Amino acid sequence: MSSQSLQSAWHHLMLLSKVSPEEKVVVLGSLSGRNRYKDVALRVLDDMGAAVSYVEVGNPHRVSASGLPALRAAGLIVDLTHSHDPVFRQLGRDGVRTLTAVEPPEILLRMLPQASDKTRVQHAQSCIRAAKTMRVTSPAGTDFEVALGELNGNCQYGFADDPGHWDQCPGAFVVTYSNDGSAQGTVVIDAGDMIFPQKEYVHAPITLHLENGYITAIEGGMDAKLLKATLDAYRNPEVFAVSHLGWGLSRNSRWDALKYFDKAEIEGQDGRGHLGNFLFSTGPNLSGGGTRRAPMHLDIPLAGCSVYLDGKPMVLDGDVVSPEQRPS
Ligand SMILES: [Fe+2]
Repeated sequence: MSSQSLQSAWHHLMLLSKVSPEEKVVVLGSLSGRNRYKDVALRVLDDMGAAVSYVEVGNPHRVSASGLPALRAAGLIVDLTHSHDPVFRQLGRDGVRTLTAVEPPEILLRMLPQASDKTRVQHAQSCIRAAKTMRVTSPAGTDFEVALGELNGNCQYGFADDPGHWDQCPGAFVVTYSNDGSAQGTVVIDAGDMIFPQKEYVHAPITLHLENGYITAIEGGMDAKLLKATLDAYRNPEVFAVSHLGWGLSRNSRWDALKYFDKAEIEGQDGRGHLGNFLFSTGPNLSGGGTRRAPMHLDIPLAGCSVYLDGKPMVLDGDVVSPEQRPS
């Protein structure tokens, strides 16, 4: 790909993120990170007349006191580290926008967000907000239901335009959190589905039994044993809790992407946000306004599921039903 196409893509992303002349923008990198888009982001933002600076921190997941003032003063942070520092939650409440960008250029350009992605994702979000129940089924054997309404959801559409909005480019999806203790049923992670952060495809079905909001049994072959061993290792019951639930809405995502990139090179937006996936997850619910902390969080995209809100299909056999939610 040409540097020109990458520069055009970043100009497009910064326009979608409503960067204005003189706006304070911080590009955040880290000492040991790839800081993949440092040069192109700085160049584009400078050309747009933004008051841009580059801040490199030692540990992006615990931003130092010396780095914080610059982040707090920014209108937009371009996060090249995918920081998990909880300070970003407060920055969002204070109105700071954050756009995380860590995927390689091949993925960024293929899945490049468009303005209409926000409209599509918000349509899905409005459906979730109005619902009291979510049921998910699949030919592989998934059949579970949760109650909704007590916690918030969130969404991702690939740019950071509204005050306080956190986003990551280039994936798009919508998620919500179930009422605590409400998840009941069975999830089958089928062969070919994925588990993150392991960034691996499952080779044989794993059956998760859900009772009162928690995974109470894990059955299957080697993949199941390894998944159980991973969760058991934390010696913390909250890692077995059901976390966010939703479906993917990305444009041009590829289910097979994990096969073609080195694990260390990608974050997994192709799978996590794949159009029509069902995204099951485990662990904390802090992002939904809950109080559950957990030392481990799994994202598990499932293919071919059907997702119903109050009995109305949102996704059928892996296809997004509503034309308002499908990419043009
Ligand atoms: Fe997640």
